[in-house]
Amino acid sequence: MSTLDINFVRSQFPAFQEPSLQGQAFFENAGGSYTCKPVLDRLTRFYTQRKVQPYAPYQASRLAGEEMDEARTRMAAVLGVDTDELSFGPSTTQNTYVLAQAFRQWMQPGDAIIVTNQDHEANSGPWRRLAEEGIDVREWQIDPQTGSLNPLDLENMLDEKVRLVCFPHCSNVIGEINPVTEITAIAHAAGAFVCVDGVSYAPHGFPNVGKLGPDIYLFSAYKTYGPHQGCMVIRRAIGELLPNQAHYFNGDVLHKRFTPAGPDHAQIAASAGMADYVDLLCDHHNGPGSGAAARAAFVHDLMRTHEVALLQPVLDAVKDRNNVRLIGTSDATRRAPTVALSLNTDAEAVAADLNDHGIMAGGGDFYAVRPLQAMRVDPEQGVLRVSFTHYTSQQEIDQLLGALETVL
Ligand SMILES: Cc1ncc(COP(=O)(O)O)c(C=O)c1O
Repeated sequence: MSTLDINFVRSQFPAFQEPSLQGQAFFENAGGSYTCKPVLDRLTRFYTQRKVQPYAPYQASRLAGEEMDEARTRMAAVLGVDTDELSFGPSTTQNTYVLAQAFRQWMQPGDAIIVTNQDHEANSGPWRRLAEEGIDVREWQIDPQTGSLNPLDLENMLDEKVRLVCFPHCSNVIGEINPVTEITAIAHAAGAFVCVDGVSYAPHGFPNVGKLGPDIYLFSAYKTYGPHQGCMVIRRAIGELLPNQAHYFNGDVLHKRFTPAGPDHAQIAASAGMADYVDLLCDHHNGPGSGAAARAAFVHDLMRTHEVALLQPVLDAVKDRNNVRLIGTSDATRRAPTVALSLNTDAEAVAADLNDHGIMAGGGDFYAVRPLQAMRVDPEQGVLRVSFTHYTSQQEIDQLLGALETVL
């Protein structure tokens, strides 16, 4: 297994060469990542050379359409699904609302849906609103101490009325990685579909959604080094079953069925840059020469290994402090490098103190009000959140640890 060449990685992100950002270490990646060069190049090319209505016969338009198609084809291959099982919408939250509307039409009063109190509001609120239609909304609850979801609890909540189970691949404040395949198998055995919010997981290596098994998998490209788009994998069986949410004449095209609005052409085209970036990393580190999903798996493992090595010392530095409560597990191998700390004081003020030490971080509830309340954290005080990705360097971690030592 090769180790990540951090200098090569950082050379792919113009933000690291940007003079105005020098000396500042970025630790709000769970809010949105820096954008990689291939994405920026594609976006610039689209806006300068192809900014016309796509899919018409003239050259600029034909190329525009081809680049949009390329993005779906290549990203679907990375994710291990068919090309038409991937679609783009404005954001994960907006995508979830569209999906919830489809379920609203498909479900019958008395049917049930399971949501968690571990999710970001995006994969929670839109589904909970189905209660207005007589849908029985059941809450799969976390352990208030650890923040973990126990699959055995889910098993006890399932019956023949449950049509859908919604849960996160990992929460944006708790960070623990949930066993998606195991949970999906439990839900499927009871006849329910699953919808997984992968927003907090995908930045740490694109998963093979086909292998993982969920029916719906959502993530946000602006957190995976890409443009501001929500990516939706909707597997064919459920995509064809749910009612069409697009113009009636587009209902036969799977990738159009859950994107009612006109898409953002340039950003969809630029999304192919995320696949370019996976390819660049794979080739630079002598990964497999073929198979998009295999190459993505190699890059996923490279990223994870680097992140876990950097994360453990951060967790060790905060886990036993009297004035700090680390939210979620202190075992780096079981979580994403998204570290929320409850401090018994206004977290945003502490984030501002960190700024004086060149650390870009945030404090607040991060739209994870329900998980914080379930863990008895006052959302008004919020949590300090420091989150990083594979492009974070050891030097930046050292800078963070020094700054935390001073401000906590
Ligand atoms: C875990 C999680 N899910 C969903 C969302 C919402 O994503 P979007 O901003 O694309 O609607 C976020 C955004 O922070 C998130 O962290």
